[in-house]
Amino acid sequence: MTSPAELGRTHCADCVDGMRALDDASVDCLIADPPFNLGNGGRMFRAGRLARCIDMDWDHIDNGPWLAEALRVLRPSGTLFVFGSWHNLFDLGSRLQRAGARILNTIVLVKTGGFSVSHRVLYERTLYAIWASPSDTGWHFDYALMKRLAGRQADNVWPYTPPTARSHPTQKPVELVERMLLMATRPGDLVLDPFTGSGTTAEACLRLRRRFLGFERDDAFARGANARIQQLRWARDFARNSRGVGEVMSVRPVG
Ligand SMILES: C[S@@+](CC[C@H](N)C(=O)[O-])C[C@H]1O[C@@H](n2cnc3c(N)ncnc32)[C@H](O)[C@@H]1O
Repeated sequence: MTSPAELGRTHCADCVDGMRALDDASVDCLIADPPFNLGNGGRMFRAGRLARCIDMDWDHIDNGPWLAEALRVLRPSGTLFVFGSWHNLFDLGSRLQRAGARILNTIVLVKTGGFSVSHRVLYERTLYAIWASPSDTGWHFDYALMKRLAGRQADNVWPYTPPTARSHPTQKPVELVERMLLMATRPGDLVLDPFTGSGTTAEACLRLRRRFLGFERDDAFARGANARIQQLRWARDFARNSRGVGEVMSVRPVG
């Protein structure tokens, strides 16, 4: 990749601008958790009464420009995971299909908890992730590993337990992103997260030895994600070094 964007960290930038600086077909996998456009003008109702507002500044996006860039920077044999709820899923799906992408699966994420938006509709317990390829030329899917992990042919209904400790209001569980990476990437692959948030994809990449590149528009979230990456690197280096010390000590003659 000839791009100026340094790998292994998240850049505080709008992802459309960030991706414009990347070469065509230079990314193996994209994990995108865009704003779900949940805001609804800031109105949420419980039992018919105004309950609370989730009209956060970062929760609005036009999915056209970033999806176009995402499909450009992905290798034809790469894949893309996009998180969504009914608020943005149909928009995302229809844009992907119109752009010629192939939708491979919709992964249904069943939450242990959920969120009540209103007492006039059902209690929401699902999130989704669309898994798609920019073309029809073939993509990586580790069928055997997924079968081994599931104990049978892996299906598209996955449990979703939100992380207990969170530094971002919509932080995703790292195990979930790890499962996506194991399924659709190989060690050394370049994974791009255009909406890094707290850095969940970065952590999964570090654990599984994939290369990472991220963009995050909010300066505080970007700094938090880079601190998370740095801490993990320190922990990994410390574990490596102390293992070395332990080995040296264990072969030392006593007395
Ligand atoms: C749903 S959250 C991502 C959460 C993340 N997956 C995690 O586990 O922490 C979406 C993030 O995208 C950021 N964002 C919104 N629009 C953006 C844009 N155009 N470019 C880059 N980041 C953006 C928001 O600041 C927010 O942190």
